[in-house]
Amino acid sequence: MPVRVLFVCLGNICRSPTAEGIFRTRVQAAQLEQQIYIDSAGTGDWHVGKSPDSRAQKYGLEAGYDIGDLRARQVSAKDFGEFDYIVAMDRQNLSDLEAMQPTDFSGSLSLLLDFDTSAGSDDVPDPYSLDASGFKRAISLIEGGCDALLLDIQQQFLQAKSGGL
Ligand code: 4NP
Repeated sequence: MPVRVLFVCLGNICRSPTAEGIFRTRVQAAQLEQQIYIDSAGTGDWHVGKSPDSRAQKYGLEAGYDIGDLRARQVSAKDFGEFDYIVAMDRQNLSDLEAMQPTDFSGSLSLLLDFDTSAGSDDVPDPYSLDASGFKRAISLIEGGCDALLLDIQQQFLQAKSGGL
C-alpha cells in the first residue's frame, strides 16, 4: 500500500495543485512513485472541475513544474479515510479541515510549513489576489515544504515498511 498524501488549500487552483506538482517531481526524482500516491483538493467548491489558475500554471512551468493536467475538486470527510497525510497550506485551511476531521482519523493533519522549520512562516500565503511575486513566493515556500515532507515520509513510513525499524 502506498503512503497517500493530500494537499489542501482554499480553491485547489493555486497553492495545492502547485504543491501536488512540486511534490510529484520530488517523488519521481527519488524513484518513489510506486510508494507515494499524491492528490490535492480545496476546502471551497467554487472552482471544482477547473484547471489551475493560469498564473499558477505559468509560474509553475517557469520553475519546472507542469500542472496543466490537474483539475480542482473539493475535499470531503471521506478523504480522511483515504489519506495518511493531509497537508494544509494555511491556518484557515487547517482549521476548516479540523472541523471536518472524523474522531477516528489516525493519520497526520498539519500545515505544510510545519515540516520546514527554516521557512520562517506558518502559512503559504494565498497568492490569488497577489501579483507575480506572490506566486513565486508560494512556489519557493512550497518547494521547501515538499522537500521536508518527503524526508519525513521517508523516515516515518518507508523505513518501517522495508523492515528498517
Ligand atoms: P488557492 O487560491 O486556495 O491557493 O487555490 C485561491 C483560489 C481562488 C480563491 C481563493 C484562493 N477564490 O476565492 O476564488
